[in-house]
Amino acid sequence: ALVTTKKMLLDAQKNGYAVGAFNVENMEMVMAVVSAAEETKSPVIMQTTPSTVKYADFDYFYANVKVAAEKANVPVAIHLDHGNSFELAMKAYRNGYTSIMIDGSHGSFEENISLTKSVVDVCKNGNVPVEAELGKVGGKEDDLDGGEGGYTDPSQAKEFAQRTGADSLAISIGTAHGVYKGEPKLDLNRLSQIREVVDIPLVLHGTSGVPDEIVTECVNRGICKVNYATDLRIAFTKGVKKVLDENPDTIDPKKYNSQGREEVKEYVKSKMLVVKSAEQA
Ligand code: 13P
Ligand code: ZN
Ligand code: NA
Repeated sequence: ALVTTKKMLLDAQKNGYAVGAFNVENMEMVMAVVSAAEETKSPVIMQTTPSTVKYADFDYFYANVKVAAEKANVPVAIHLDHGNSFELAMKAYRNGYTSIMIDGSHGSFEENISLTKSVVDVCKNGNVPVEAELGKVGGKEDDLDGGEGGYTDPSQAKEFAQRTGADSLAISIGTAHGVYKGEPKLDLNRLSQIREVVDIPLVLHGTSGVPDEIVTECVNRGICKVNYATDLRIAFTKGVKKVLDENPDTIDPKKYNSQGREEVKEYVKSKMLVVKSAEQA
């Protein structure tokens, strides 16, 4: 069923697991993520970035996810990832998205608070939960170059959560969007310090490329939502390429898209164990 992320993330927090949030770019990726969730009995979040909803509008992704969710016997949510303006957040809200991120992390602390609060104030009327971000996750985020990350300050995080009324908080502890050059070094202590003073569920971004055991350690220290994007693109493209390399005369999109779908499904299934959501639906 299609649900909001409210109960989902509170249940994860209460029971010591995280919900995987996977960026989808087409119908096949939606199908793959839902199959993986069903086969592992996991609650799941599918999310689209501003550039994805520019490629095809909110209504296309909403319709795809809604169809998949209605057939599924696990909870499914559709989330706006890195919403970059009040207007785009409102568009997601009007289109029926069941979870919205407003990312004000590029502005000052006060600007971030007022932008986040403005979205929270509207979304609470429809019981749509809002994810906010404090601190900067590095790397290339969607179309934007995030540059160097500024880590989240625990005491600021506490004030930020209180003043915005956000339902969940994305934090920066050393992860970056995209592929890592070396092994990422995460500040796990900082995560624990933030968790001590912030009650709302915490979100990890930039997870593609983070070693599995470190991701699980983050979950054990209080991360309740784990975002994967880049690795799904890589998996899908790998599947498509495999078919086209082996059979260059293929003209039927079903032939190569189905292989992309298969690769994404296997990837997502393996991550359900890493975030400990398997058997939790
Ligand atoms: P990756 O692309 O590094 O997995 O980051 C995902 C993310 O944070 C989406 O918001
Ligand atoms: Zn992100
Ligand atoms: Na990453």
